[in-house]
Order: sequence, then C-alpha cells, then structure tokens
Amino acid sequence: MTATNDPPSREKVAIKLPPSLRQKIKVRAAQLGLDMQDAVTEAIQAWMADGAEHPLVETSGAANFTTHLPKGMNEEFRKVAKSRKSALNQALAQALTEWLRDRPASHKQREATGPVRFVVCNQKGGVGKTAISAGLAEGIAERDARVLLVDFDPQCHLTQQLGHKPLGIDDPSLAKRMLGEEKKVDLRSLVVPVESEQFFGDRLHLLPGSTYAFLLDAKLATAPGLRVRESALERELLALEEDYDYIIVDCPPSLGYTMDNALYYGRTREGEDPDSSGIVIVVQAEDSSADAYELLMAQISALAGDMNLPLALLGIVVNLYDSRRGYIATSSLQGWRDLGTPPVLGVIPDLKEQREAVRVKQPLLQYAPESEQASSMRELTRRLVG
Ligand SMILES: Nc1ncnc2c1ncn2[C@@H]1O[C@H](COP(=O)(O)OP(=O)(O)OP(=O)(O)O)[C@@H](O)[C@H]1O
Ligand SMILES: [Mg+2]
Repeated sequence: MTATNDPPSREKVAIKLPPSLRQKIKVRAAQLGLDMQDAVTEAIQAWMADGAEHPLVETSGAANFTTHLPKGMNEEFRKVAKSRKSALNQALAQALTEWLRDRPASHKQREATGPVRFVVCNQKGGVGKTAISAGLAEGIAERDARVLLVDFDPQCHLTQQLGHKPLGIDDPSLAKRMLGEEKKVDLRSLVVPVESEQFFGDRLHLLPGSTYAFLLDAKLATAPGLRVRESALERELLALEEDYDYIIVDCPPSLGYTMDNALYYGRTREGEDPDSSGIVIVVQAEDSSADAYELLMAQISALAGDMNLPLALLGIVVNLYDSRRGYIATSSLQGWRDLGTPPVLGVIPDLKEQREAVRVKQPLLQYAPESEQASSMRELTRRLVG
C-alpha cells in the first residue's frame, strides 16, 4: 500500500481486489451517480464502523487496484483490519461486498435488464444440478425475493421432487412453445406455486418440466422458421420475467441445442451488472467430474466465441462432498479450488436430508431447515446473491 499527496485532500492507495468485484463496484457506482473512489470510501467507512463479524469473501485472482481515499483513512483502515486480524485485501473485499449488498440494483435498473438469471448445468448426470437449483431457489425465496424455478430437463426430476406432476407429451409446455407450437397458451398458466407459507410465502414458483422436452434438441435443429435457434428459451421466458426477481434454470445432463439455449439465456445482458446473472456449474470431488468439466468448458467457449456472447461463469458448486472418501475426494476438492476462476462457490456435504426431502417431495429448506445441508444452501445463496 502506498500513499502520495495526489490529489491534495486524498491519498493514493493500492490494494488487491478481485477484478469481478471491482467491475461490479464500477457499474453500481455509475448507476448511483457516484465516483468509484467515493463508493470505496463509503464502503470502508461502513466496514470500520460495523464491529460485527464480517463473513469471509472469496479473493482468489485478486489484482492490483488503485484508488484515492481521504487523507488518514488508509492508515486507520489498516489499523482496524489488523485489530480484527483481517488481511487488508480481505477487509476491502468484505467492505465492498457489503456495500453492494446494501445497495441492490433498483427496481428500475432491474426492469431494464430483467431478473437475475442462474443457469445450473453440467452434462454429467447425477451430480446434483437439480438439488442445487432447488436449494438455491429456496434460499433466495426465503430472503423475500420472488423466484421462478424452470425445470428444463425432460426427466422432470425437479418437478417431481417438489411434489408436482410433469407435463405430458400432449400437454402445452415450455418445450412446445419454444418450437413455435401451442401459440395460444400463456406460459403463465403453466406455472405452479411451491407452497410453503412458513418459509417462502408465495414467492417460490415452478415452471414444470415436460417429457416432450426429450425431442427438443432434435426439433430445434430442424424446426423451420426459428430465426436464432439459441434464443428460443429466452423468447418464451421473457413473458414471465416481470413477475420475478430471480429465474433459475435446472438443465438436463446433456450438451446440444437445449443446453445452448440455457447458456444463451444466462448471458450478461446489455446494461446488466457483470457477474450478476450467469452459469453455475455443479460438480463432484472425483476424477470423472474433471473430464466432464473440460467438455462443458469447450461447449461454453465455442458458443461464447461463435455468438460473441458475454457469458459469466459465476462459479462451481462441489456437491455430494464427503471427506471420508479419502484422498480422491480431498485432492479433487483442492483441484477445484486451485482453478481460482471460476471460483468454488460452495461445498455441499453428502447428507441424508437431501435424499429424505426428495423422498417426501418437499423443499429441503422446509423439510430440514436446521440441517447442515440447508445451511450450506443458504451459504451458497449468500455467495451468489450477496
Ligand atoms: N448434497 C447431497 N447429499 C445427498 N444426496 C444428494 C445431494 N445432492 C443430490 N443428492 C441426491 O443425489 C441424486 C442426484 O441428484 P440430482 O438429481 O440433484 O442430480 P442431477 O445432476 O440433477 O441429475 P441429472 O443429471 O439426472 O439431472 C438425487 O437422488 C439427490 O437427492
Ligand atoms: Mg437434474
């Protein structure tokens, strides 16, 4: 950290900061009509004034960041950080994360870019995409936001696990609408609530899956009259967006046009905060997950390159983790952490409550609200939405 006399009432300060956090501050400060240095000053002041314990923030990939702080603030910040036994870059990352959390994008800003969208994917089967999609949606709805879960998998596990019936092959469905069929059906009429007065009120909804979606990949490839095959999902979901703050898409274990549609839907829209919407990859701590990851990355890079799509890889969730499985599990987890980018957003233990919740067809956070698994889901929610 260095200090000069330039400009006179402020001093130049260099700290390390993850580039994504820096970008978010830049955008939100601009949205609020603030200078970046004023935003950072506010954040540090609030952090120093708040003596409560501040949750750790991921700082991997941090790079040099230079700003100007009011004279003397740099020194005070260092002292307070030291007294709280916090590294300076961790303290700054915490201060800025909390500043962002306290200043959510306004309704007007949201209106311009739509709800925040998370696309939960991996073509490897059984890694926990559905469990994580649901847990994340529950964690967000518990915090007073309106959430739509989209079951985009023809297996319809999400729909069944939440106690609903999948749409049949002859029923109107999202998949049919994407193919230009059932034009008269309003997608809203297919949405069902995930009832839980105590936990989510009426804020958590589900767009059920359909077995017809098994045909989606093949039909998307050949359907006449589809201008851009990758945007069919977005075209349909746009009609629902004003009803929700968050939309979470549970993807099938496959690569193809269906998956491309989901990735396209998760891209950063013009004017949207970078890294707010994007891709969440669920993996396990084992070697075969690393191979599947490579394949998924290739697909994501190809689509992003071909279509010039800004795609934010928000992070990796390591699911079904059990350190008792020994070296393979612990070294694989370390391997995911060593990637740095995308960061590991959470490690979800392999525990019975998840399977029990599925068996009784109840949301995990309702079935076992005090369980370790529910806590991990809430922690994941915090990492993703602040
Ligand atoms: N953290 C966990 N602890 C215990 N069981 C889990 C956990 N996560 C998922 N499961 C169980 O593992 C199985 C597979 O999980 P899930 O259906 O979420 O995977 P998926 O990736 O969505 O599968 P698919 O690729 O078929 O869509 C389910 O029975 C689920 O209940
Ligand atoms: Mg699934």
